[in-house]
Parts: sequence; structure tokens; C-alpha cells
Amino acid sequence: MRMVDMIAKKRDGGELTTEEIQFLVTGYTDGSIPDYQMSAWAMAVFFRGMTARETGDLTLAMAGSGEQLDLSSLQGIKVDKHSTGGVGDKTTLVVAPLVAAAGIPVAKMSGRGLGYSGGTIDKLESFAGFEVERTREQFLQQVRDIGVSVIGQSGNLTPADKKLYALRDVTATVEAVPLIASSIMSKKIAAGADAILLDVKVGKGAFMKSIEEAETLANAMVAIGSQVGRKTVAVISDMNQPLGFAVGNALEVKEAVETLAGRGPRDLTELVLSIGSRMLVMGGLVGDVEEGRKKLEDLMASGKAVDKLAEMVEAQGGNKQDVYDLSRLPQAKIIHTVTAEQDGFVSAIDAEAIGHASVVLGAGRLTKEMPIDLAVGLVLHKKRGDQVKAGEVLVTIHANEDQLLKNALKEMEGAFQISTAIDGEQPLIYKIIEA
Ligand code: URA
Repeated sequence: MRMVDMIAKKRDGGELTTEEIQFLVTGYTDGSIPDYQMSAWAMAVFFRGMTARETGDLTLAMAGSGEQLDLSSLQGIKVDKHSTGGVGDKTTLVVAPLVAAAGIPVAKMSGRGLGYSGGTIDKLESFAGFEVERTREQFLQQVRDIGVSVIGQSGNLTPADKKLYALRDVTATVEAVPLIASSIMSKKIAAGADAILLDVKVGKGAFMKSIEEAETLANAMVAIGSQVGRKTVAVISDMNQPLGFAVGNALEVKEAVETLAGRGPRDLTELVLSIGSRMLVMGGLVGDVEEGRKKLEDLMASGKAVDKLAEMVEAQGGNKQDVYDLSRLPQAKIIHTVTAEQDGFVSAIDAEAIGHASVVLGAGRLTKEMPIDLAVGLVLHKKRGDQVKAGEVLVTIHANEDQLLKNALKEMEGAFQISTAIDGEQPLIYKIIEA
């Protein structure tokens, strides 16, 4: 087999065989296929697309390019969850302990934030001493003992995707649906899940800006799931405004704990219940989402959901008191409020601008190596649709340096739009896609 023939075949709209795709992934991972040929192939895919069969083959080949986690020693159906990323998206911090409290084993690998979209692993480090790097045995044993562990992604998972993603980033080929879908699904499959719940974000603060794009991506991922025998459900949810009120690591952890206790923001609570109840159905624990939702609401009200997070924090080296006394989490020195200049209704909150402001404060990173400040960020007081009077607080900024506060204020100028009226409700969940 020759890579040049596969590039030509794809350039001319042909379909690669399973063997050709395996050859391409193996060759690219071991270095025998150079970047320039892989770039040409990725660009051919960008223009010509891939069939569902090719996309499934690419996913499995990338999943098999490195270490694969074997979760078979854990009892039950392992349901993983993945978000395509957004601003204020602390869903995993709530969903993981919540569904674990219901009885679904959660052995989850999560990422760090990059750019304006935050990462679960950074947020968890707001608990002093919390260890995100664990040996495979510690990770599995913790899930056997308490039902949940969330750790950082193993360095040796899907090396083919790591290399190809970096290449796509610099060759203008990131935005190819079969490549995005196979990239995400290969990591989920290598992480060992039996079933996968995908939260595909859409809007100003998300990777996918239109519902059509989000739906195309969701359909492609659900199709891959079916093809490789993993039940996959995609929820397409709104990311035009931040999720919940808090943006920034420790601030989001506090909001996640409040949500686990049943006192969370309406949108975050709704998303968590929608995702969590579907995970319970996929895990075979309940017959339908209504039953799942009721179970999760009971776990929130009884305090068992919060207790499960506390158990996880303790098991991974933190102090469980931090969960019950949120004033022990990192706190910023400067608290600054921004108020409304006019009466009206909040008609839009630019999630991307709020995300950028949080990065400027130090809550996120622009390069993978940048240190972050866990205490800083923003807390919204109003969401889209809320009525506001001139002088009322729109957002509280938590900062540790005056200059960074000034920079963040500049970054979020115009982020809140106030109008005399609003045109209808913006849905939180646009669509659920199942095979
Ligand atoms: N996230 C991924 O993991 N891969 C992509 O290609 C795009 C987003």
C-alpha cells in the first residue's frame, strides 16, 4: 500500500478500505507516513468527506493506536459523558457524583481547559490536595470502592489523534466533521465506556456556531457509536450564554456543589437532570428518563449527591470538609461589581466575551503550559430574559490583580445586551439524537 494512492483516491472522491485506513493510522503514528502526506489527505477529507463506514474505521484505528482502558473488571454498564466544551460548563462536576450516587459506575477521564473553554480537571484542583494523576489500579479500585473517580487523560491514550489533531490545527483542517467526530469518539472508546452520552454545545461560546453544524456533528458521532457497538446519545444544548452563573474554577466548583444540593441555577440543574437521567437509562438502572430524573432529584434533596462528591474528593487526596464548607476553597482578593446602565431586559450575554474575560483574569490558559489562578472569574447575576433596572448588579468579578481586572472589564465591554423587550425564549436543549 502507498499513501500517495490513498491521497489520490480520497482527492477523487473514492472510499478507502478498512485495511487502507488501518495502514494510514498505523503509519502516521509510527512516523513512516510523514506530516506532509497526512496533511494532503486531511485536506482531501475536508473537501470530499468520508462515508460512515470510513469514519467508523478511522475511529477504531485511532482508538487502537495507544493504550486502551479495560473497565471490564467494574460491575455494570459504564456510561461516559463528553461535552464539546463551553463557558461555565461544570456539568461533569455535578453529573459524575450524581449518577454515581444513583449506582452507575463512573470511571472518567477529563481534560484541562484551553482557550476560553474551561476543563474539569483544572476545576477539581480547586480542592487542595486533589490528585488528578492516579495509577490505573488506584483509579479502578476507587471506582470499585466508592463508585466514582475523575482523573486527567492518560498521556498514552490515542496517540494517532494527538498527532493528527495538532496537524489539523496548523493545516486548516480542524473543521471537517468526520475528523472531529472520529477524534472525539476515538478518545471515548479508548477510555473504555460501554455507552456514551455526548453534550454537543452550540452557540457563540461553542465550537459549533449553528444548530445545523451541531446536528451534523452529533449525527456523525451517534452513527460511529452504532457502528462500533457503543450505545451513543447526543444532547444538543445551548452555549450562547454561559451555563449557570459562575465562570472560573473554584467559583464553578461552588456552583456545582450547590447544584448537587438541589440549589443550583435553573439551566444547569435542568441540563444535569436531562443528561444524568439519560445516563441512568443507558446504564440500565431505570426504564425511562422520568424515573431517572425523580431518582436524581431525590439524591440531590437527601444530600447523598453532595456526600458522593465529598467521598471522591477525600479518596483522591483532598479534604471532604471543603465540599461542606465552600469558604475553604480559593478566594480572590478583589471583588468588583458591574452594574446596568439602563432599565430593560437582558436580551443576550456573549458567552465568548465572558470566557475571554475569565482567561484574562487568569482563570484559563492560552497555551497548554500556562499556570492558572483557581480563585478568579466572574459570577453573573442576570441571565438572558431577566428584567433589570439601572444600577442593578449584572456581574461580580473576582480578581487578584488590579491590572487584570481592568483588562477583563475591557474584554467584556458590550457582553450584556439590554433591550426594551426580548424576542421569545432561547431553548436550553435543542435536540436529542439517538440511533
Ligand atoms: N475536540 C476534539 O477532541 N477533537 C476535535 O477534532 C475537535 C474537538
